[in-house]
Amino acid sequence: MSLINDLNWRYAAKKMNGKSISDEQLNMVLTAINLSASSYGLQPYKVMVVSKPETKLKLQEAAFGQLQVGSSSHVLILTVPLKMTEEYIQNYISLIAEERAIPTGFLDEFKKTLETTIVALPTDVQQIWATKQAYISLGTALIAAANQKIDACPMEGFDAAKFDEILNLTEKGFKSVVMLVLGFRDEKDTYANFKKVRKAKEDLFEMVN
Ligand SMILES: Cc1cc2nc3c(=O)[nH]c(=O)nc-3n(C[C@H](O)[C@H](O)[C@H](O)COP(=O)(O)O)c2cc1C
Repeated sequence: MSLINDLNWRYAAKKMNGKSISDEQLNMVLTAINLSASSYGLQPYKVMVVSKPETKLKLQEAAFGQLQVGSSSHVLILTVPLKMTEEYIQNYISLIAEERAIPTGFLDEFKKTLETTIVALPTDVQQIWATKQAYISLGTALIAAANQKIDACPMEGFDAAKFDEILNLTEKGFKSVVMLVLGFRDEKDTYANFKKVRKAKEDLFEMVN
């Protein structure tokens, strides 16, 4: 039951206390993101990790002043590629071949599948697909943080165009889609004591025979 206890403990923190999480704790969350499942294993996202106070304050301003951003330890901004290219696919194929010590030729069929199903999509559809994958890693990161009693807030309440500008994302070929704020809850954050509101299980699940 410890996982359920962790999930009951966590909440979307509205204010952090400014204390830093350790490098080890940060690394654990980042490793969990890296181990997250993604369609075809393509991991079509990049995570920008911000800890510099001035940058966090700029992000807070572009997130409609939400205090958990500036008072956090780290802000992770999940971004997706503007375009999924043949080069991206080739890099992935090379990585599989290297990690599994197999000739790249063994992966020709798979490569073709990725090119016809992903590269061939219009870029707006690619971005929507990549965003879905990024959100899965957001969920994984939330669980990993809760497991270490690190507070977090998943957030899409921000001006993405402003984030892209602050982080020079367009130049890098990416756009921001969602963020995860990490830190330790402020003891005066009243949201910490609110009862969780969740659907009755019979409304959420239907056992289909
Ligand atoms: C994708 C996503 C975006 C969210 N955006 C914000 C946000 O911008 N600001 C905020 O305070 N909470 C945000 N939340 C937190 C939700 O409001 C919160 O998870 C929900 O009310 C359930 O409460 P709990 O997480 O505390 O159990 C977001 C959650 C998700 C999953």
